[in-house]
Amino acid sequence: MRVLVTGGAGFIGSHIVDRLVARGDEVVVLDSLAVQDGLPDYLPDGVDFRVGDLSDEAAVQGAVAGVDAVCHQAARVGLGVDFNDVSAYVRDNDLGTANLLRALWNRSFKGRLVVASSMVVYGEGRYNCPDHGRGDVPPRSAADLDAGRFEPRCPTCGEDLDWETVPEHAGFDPRNVYAATKVHTEHLSFLYGREAGVNVCALRYHNVYGPRMPRDTPYAGVAAIFRSAFEAGRAPRVFEDGGQMRDFVHVDDVARANVLALDSDWNGACNIASGEPHSVGDMANALAAGFTGVPKPVVTGEYRLGDVRHVVASPDLAEAVLGFRAETRFDKGMAEFATAPLRA
Ligand code: UD1
Repeated sequence: MRVLVTGGAGFIGSHIVDRLVARGDEVVVLDSLAVQDGLPDYLPDGVDFRVGDLSDEAAVQGAVAGVDAVCHQAARVGLGVDFNDVSAYVRDNDLGTANLLRALWNRSFKGRLVVASSMVVYGEGRYNCPDHGRGDVPPRSAADLDAGRFEPRCPTCGEDLDWETVPEHAGFDPRNVYAATKVHTEHLSFLYGREAGVNVCALRYHNVYGPRMPRDTPYAGVAAIFRSAFEAGRAPRVFEDGGQMRDFVHVDDVARANVLALDSDWNGACNIASGEPHSVGDMANALAAGFTGVPKPVVTGEYRLGDVRHVVASPDLAEAVLGFRAETRFDKGMAEFATAPLRA
């Protein structure tokens, strides 16, 4: 099978490329190399590597020619610096996806399309009030956060809510620009599927970590930020009270999920998660265990207004429809991550 991996030189994309090459697929990579210094040394031989941006019509047309499947990973990720990033996110993620889909449309592509999405499309996770049941959870107020009250509250009685795992049919509630572009990426991709009569799969990654993760930048996730802090001999700063729950899923598992999705015919979105939720505080401690002589993580009580409190997935649909179940256990994965090579 000839597969185009957009963003195939990046963190997740490159692990997908490794797997596809290892099983004998012909792989085309289209990557702008926008977030790296030249061609990475980890790309396997035999890849048809093209440096190009999704805004470059000729590059996209060339990359989609003759492919049987597309795995769309190229995106501007993370939270960014501030709202000034909005145009760059929309250009790279919304317009980039649109350009890719238009190129596929123009060559009457009927193959498999898998797109990278994110749990950020849900906004806050799912919550239950023991007295008032489930309901929409409004963003946490600055006043509550200033007072150190971090748990979302029931809009009816004001009491703290209990978190639950989020299923794929939960509504969209993007809380930052990146999240809004991932909602749009999904919508555009499923619209392509309807118009072209093909099945499309969107994978909603939870907090991915592992080798080749970008180092500490405004676009990096918390695992890379903590790892970089330890490496520099600094104590990681754990925001809020450290009790915010996430699902840290290893990049090897995420890459395997993509290959399973490419091989499946599932039409719809799937959470890609480890199924083993941990708090951010736990993650800092698990990572600390991989180092010697580093300062202990500091729980600061600081907060970022755009952060959601808990977001933890149900991995059941991915198992049922893709046959995907994560294999890397949290403790082992974090211990290895302490010394894994990161990208500059
Ligand atoms: C992250 C990614 C998002 C991705 C999603 C799923 C970023 C910025 N966010 O969302 O792009 O789609 O996972 O893979 O990459 N925290 C600290 N100390 C710090 C930094 C963060 O305690 O120095 C806390 C935050 O307050 C938050 C948690 O760690 O509660 C997770 O933060 P982060 O990884 O930035 O964002 P997510 O919302 O989990």
